[in-house]
Amino acid sequence: MADVSRYERMSYRRCGNSGLKLPAISLGLWHNFGGNDSRENGRNMLRRAFDLGITHFDLANNYGPPPGSAEEMFGQLWRQDFQAYRDEMVVATKAGYGMWPGPYGEFGSRKSMLSSLDQSLKRMKMEYVDIFYSHRFDKETPLEETMSALDQAVRQGKALYVGISNYGPEQAREAIAILRSLGTPCLIHQSHYSMYERRLEQGLQEVLLEEGVGTIAYSPLARGLLTDRYLKGIPADSRAAGGSVFLKREDVTEAKVEKSRKLNALAAERGQTLAQMAVAWVLRQGRVTSALIGVSRAEQIDDIAGFLKQSEFSDEELDLIEQILAG
Ligand SMILES: NC(=O)c1ccc[n+]([C@@H]2O[C@H](COP(=O)([O-])OP(=O)(O)OC[C@H]3O[C@@H](n4cnc5c(N)ncnc54)[C@H](OP(=O)(O)O)[C@@H]3O)[C@@H](O)[C@H]2O)c1
Repeated sequence: MADVSRYERMSYRRCGNSGLKLPAISLGLWHNFGGNDSRENGRNMLRRAFDLGITHFDLANNYGPPPGSAEEMFGQLWRQDFQAYRDEMVVATKAGYGMWPGPYGEFGSRKSMLSSLDQSLKRMKMEYVDIFYSHRFDKETPLEETMSALDQAVRQGKALYVGISNYGPEQAREAIAILRSLGTPCLIHQSHYSMYERRLEQGLQEVLLEEGVGTIAYSPLARGLLTDRYLKGIPADSRAAGGSVFLKREDVTEAKVEKSRKLNALAAERGQTLAQMAVAWVLRQGRVTSALIGVSRAEQIDDIAGFLKQSEFSDEELDLIEQILAG
């Protein structure tokens, strides 16, 4: 039984001009749900998230390692605990990065996209996903082909909505126009965005707002750098110590940690943790629909969900953050 008060614990925000609302915080399964990770820990994280009103779970064909294993674990846990709640969940998957050998195992051909979705559904043992994404722009495949594969996934009943991820402003505008002409509007763009990663602000966010497409910000905690995780060194059980290619020990620089210490002090003045402030910051001004976090244990979700108690910023606080970041 899920917590009966779960919907009072989260806020829900409309995704662009669509009918779909997403939770302010969504949970990604990129790390910590792979073949070598604890199933019990994965189960705890999913259950805690759902009890806190987090209804949106983000996957991709290649999440693991090994690739595909996160979808497999999610499928098992979904069947075990969440079957009765399928209509209360928004499940996303993606295709585009390297997944299987040969020319059809990556990028944006119709062949690759639709085969990948079939594989994802099989791994998760689901009849459909709520959102199917093109994970990255493919400069060699006509955009019409990739977008019509997304459209076809919806027409086949295998996805309810479609999205794009990691597209630049002009690529996004074109993709959105093609999807609109096909009759399957683009629901959402998934973008890397945090206090430490600001490219979204260089044109893309304007395009998405103009086009009525939602934005989900991935890695809002800068993979752990915008938390208290690295303020006193690199803990043995952290992502940076674990051999992730996306957050290496060398990425935890003294300059970054010093900024995080200053941001941590500001968060403390606001009566919250740095992780809470980092999530509140990407959601400020209502431009981003949802903050797509990762966690390695259920307690981290409890912590982040507490951001709702202090989600507004004064102009002075926003200025101070810019000064620290420029520092
Ligand atoms: N579309 C794309 O190309 C793309 C790319 C990357 C990610 N994503 C999506 O975005 C999701 C999130 O990415 P991410 O995991 O890099 O996000 P993140 O939220 O920036 O970082 C997550 C890490 O921060 C640390 N953390 C989380 N909560 C904490 C807390 N309360 N206190 C202290 N530390 C905390 C944990 O590190 P430890 O593990 O060290 O505890 C956790 O693994 C992915 O799962 C995926 O769904 C999409």
